[in-house]
Amino acid sequence: MVIAVATQKGGTGKTTTSISIASGLARLHHKKVLLIDIDSQANSSKVLLPNYQEISKHNTIFTTLLERNPLPVHKSSIPNLDIVPSHILLSNTDVELTTAKDHREARLKSQLDPIKAHYDYILIDCPPALGWLTINAFTAADQVLVVVEPGYFELDSINQLNKTLQEVREIFHPSLSLLGYLFTKADPTVNSRTSLQILRQTYTDKVLKTVIPRNVALKDASFQKQDIFSYDPKSKGAAAYKKLIEELFDE
Ligand SMILES: Nc1ncnc2c1ncn2[C@@H]1O[C@H](COP(=O)(O)OP(=O)(O)O)[C@@H](O)[C@H]1O
Ligand SMILES: [Mg+2]
Repeated sequence: MVIAVATQKGGTGKTTTSISIASGLARLHHKKVLLIDIDSQANSSKVLLPNYQEISKHNTIFTTLLERNPLPVHKSSIPNLDIVPSHILLSNTDVELTTAKDHREARLKSQLDPIKAHYDYILIDCPPALGWLTINAFTAADQVLVVVEPGYFELDSINQLNKTLQEVREIFHPSLSLLGYLFTKADPTVNSRTSLQILRQTYTDKVLKTVIPRNVALKDASFQKQDIFSYDPKSKGAAAYKKLIEELFDE
């Protein structure tokens, strides 16, 4: 199962969600997991690869998207979790892919398909934009997990993402499905409660039951370059992501 974790906004919790689901499946359920980092900010790469700074662009997803080479798979610091790291130079990729002529949407998919069977789960941590990188992620994925944080404009931006999802379905990938909307960074404020209420009213059963609370352990874990299950397995953040994995995958 290949899952793209997306929203076109930065800071909603895509990277935290990708790392937490991937590490939870690997650590708690002993699944074989691959995380593909396709965001030029390379945040999940920096958390999961202690030697990230020494990795050249030819050993990152850059080589797959720009040079059409096989995916460079690295072992992460977590047993059973592999990672394809990203690179800062990916920030120019959209321009290059826009002018490319052949199958620019399928460069990730064509290299992922041959190695898919080695993994139980594959997660793609998407950039905060709906350009060719995200289209590559959607084309390679079976399902999209949409990460939403509290706020009026966040709800507005879901419409934009849904349009892109629909376009990718129509043009490239008819069977792409929506795994669900995940509400993150929830807190007891009116803003947060109202946002969740509107989200549930609008998208009903597509809104996941599990809500991820705003939890300082999740923030500290990424700062310490650790996943939440090693940093603070007793935290509210760890409990929420554990529940999410059970809800999504019956694991
Ligand atoms: N549930 C949460 N509670 C508190 N902080 C969070 C939570 N989820 C993410 N963060 C923090 O918010 C910031 C942005 O999260 P991140 O996962 O990097 O978002 P994105 O990948 O969407 O840009 C990071 O500093 C991260 O540690
Ligand atoms: Mg991110």
